[in-house]
Amino acid sequence: MARRRMIYEGKAKILYEGPEPGTLIQYFKDDATAHNAEKRAVLDGKGVLNNRISEFVMTRLTAAGIPNHFIRRLNMREQLIRKVEIIPLEVVIRNVAAGSISRRLGVEEGNALPRAIVEFYYKRDDLGDPIVSEEHITAFNWAGPQEIDDMISLSLRVNDFMTGLFSAVGIRLIDFKLEYGRLFEGDTVRTLLADEISPDNCRLWDLESGEKLDKDRFRQDMGGVTQAYSEVARRLGIIKETSGGDNIVSFNGGQG
Ligand code: TMP
Repeated sequence: MARRRMIYEGKAKILYEGPEPGTLIQYFKDDATAHNAEKRAVLDGKGVLNNRISEFVMTRLTAAGIPNHFIRRLNMREQLIRKVEIIPLEVVIRNVAAGSISRRLGVEEGNALPRAIVEFYYKRDDLGDPIVSEEHITAFNWAGPQEIDDMISLSLRVNDFMTGLFSAVGIRLIDFKLEYGRLFEGDTVRTLLADEISPDNCRLWDLESGEKLDKDRFRQDMGGVTQAYSEVARRLGIIKETSGGDNIVSFNGGQG
């Protein structure tokens, strides 16, 4: 088989040139990093789970009318996506205080926030992805005012949708990170949700016990990381059963 052209390699994903113009293949690796890549590990099966969980969420967002880059899953670790120009911002939506907002503002972890809060971070690993304001974003031309409005309104819609999706399966959506891209169509530009939505970039707590079912298990050396991701997939109906934490799982529907 001819080698595909690699477009980009990130910490947890690789992008290859797609089969048709305007498409890319997004490959999910098992690699995990935290604390700005100071902590690294390979977590067997994480990429397969994230590919499936992200497919599940993106497909439902499409059905709910929220435009995103997902086209279809190709196999265990790959999905076909629309090629977009990534806006160099991470958009974090928070419902409950945890992580950096607790550290920065002294809000106790677990406290519900008065309303959903949307934050922007500048995607720059060498600077540790600093938090930025809309003033910074427009002054440095990372995104325009209309794009900022689009990102905020789409993010709040994604938040409403995902809060319901997860609460229906006994999971509390604490916060999550989104990325957006620009899709050029003739002389128009559309803002599209891109990247992935998985336990790598969400905080998901069991509604009853408060148990963490997300990447904080890795960040905080709690163990059971892929088991927690499998549990999320199981509750969403993506996989049939976890087998005593061995990650030998059977996926519902489709090839791969
Ligand atoms: P934070 O509390 O560390 O700022 O993280 C907020 C949410 O964003 C949490 O769900 C984890 C996610 N996140 C990422 O996906 N990538 C990142 O680089 C950071 C800093 C956070």
